[in-house]
Amino acid sequence: MEKFIILGGRRLSGKVRASTSKNATLPIMAASLLSEEPTIIKNAPKLTDVETMMEMLTALGVKVKKEGKNLYIDPSGRLNPEAPYEIVKRMRASYYVLGSLLGRMRRAKVAFPGGCAIGPRPIDLHLKGMERLGAKVKIEHGFIIAEASSLKGAEMTLEGPSGSSVGATCNVMLAATLAKGRTVIRCAACEPEVVDLASFLNKMGAKIRGAGTPVITIDGVKRLKGVEYKPIPDRIETATLLVAGVITRGEVEVTHCIPEHLRSVLEKLEEAGAEIELSKNSIRVRISERPKSLRITTAPYPGFPTDMQAQFMALLSLASNTSIITETIFEARFLHALELGRMGADITLEANRAIIKGVEKLTGAPVMASDLRASAALVLAGLAAEGRTDVSRIYHLDRGYEHLEKKLNSLGASIRREEE
Ligand code: UD1
Repeated sequence: MEKFIILGGRRLSGKVRASTSKNATLPIMAASLLSEEPTIIKNAPKLTDVETMMEMLTALGVKVKKEGKNLYIDPSGRLNPEAPYEIVKRMRASYYVLGSLLGRMRRAKVAFPGGCAIGPRPIDLHLKGMERLGAKVKIEHGFIIAEASSLKGAEMTLEGPSGSSVGATCNVMLAATLAKGRTVIRCAACEPEVVDLASFLNKMGAKIRGAGTPVITIDGVKRLKGVEYKPIPDRIETATLLVAGVITRGEVEVTHCIPEHLRSVLEKLEEAGAEIELSKNSIRVRISERPKSLRITTAPYPGFPTDMQAQFMALLSLASNTSIITETIFEARFLHALELGRMGADITLEANRAIIKGVEKLTGAPVMASDLRASAALVLAGLAAEGRTDVSRIYHLDRGYEHLEKKLNSLGASIRREEE
């Protein structure tokens, strides 16, 4: 296993380019098998999660190769509709092949995704959606088995306890593109990654309207064609790099991003005292004072993303007053709070709320990453802390951040990757 050794206390400054979105690329890779023709995904991010999805597609009988930054996916010929546990257990998003396999083959056997470090993550809405489309779904020996002699468009409301679900919306969209007739998804997730999947499917020949709003309508088509497609930039990576600038009281510009996707995050950075300059495809932040305290409640898009909660907790540990973060999407997503405490942060947890009393400084310490975004928070804290921070188990970071240490070092950070 590898770890990062961070020498903190350096002010970051400069320009850095956003990578392609992980959460857009994964469902798009799964979607490519809905056609029998080859697809090229351009500028795919170099991430372990993308490699895991490549392995998954290969296990299903799809030919996949990476050349330079492009992924070549050839889903022609007979596929094997069984998604093995060995791959699903490494990445929950593997479950996107459920919708694609059911759409293309009318049969899917996908290992049931298990627990997760950020708390319970049910998949009842995915299964409800498949059943509404006419599939018979059963859980047997750790697998979800979904079968349908034919898929028929249907109306459904995909609403969970905290609102819409990105995964269920995408999975149903995948299966419904090749169903007979019209599907209407109400309470659909509005995240930009859902819109990007719909754009990709529409380029393949699907008929999807309303993506980006709570009502998505899908008119089933007979077949889809292979296409070339470049997914959107990663809004969570972009926001993490911006927070790196703010937490070190520096000045950072992220280029090749979509500022519109980050409204709620930028508003919070501004409220914390950062100056923000936007241009069409870039965002620059600058701050010279200690950040001000904030109240943040995570919510589905366009609300404040749960995927930025941990990074903001690192930032608010250094704020001038007391902040409150309420996590409404994944209520147990607070493991990073305890590790931040090892660096001197003053955080109290009460159910799904974290109360963060800002301290003057954090001090470097050995800490352990527990999940992808929590790891990013520890790296950010390490950048601002006095002295040396060792972040272990950074394989979590490599799942979702492309060349993170290289990008941060190019802005003036000191991060070294070492074998533990
Ligand atoms: C996706 C993102 C993840 C992000 C999350 C919320 C990917 C690969 N992952 O995860 O990074 O943190 O959106 O923005 O894109 N729920 C149910 N039943 C279900 C499905 C979900 O109750 O069948 C609940 C969840 O427990 C959670 C909420 O709905 O409380 C939202 O989850 P969801 O949007 O589905 O998250 P993911 O798609 O798993």
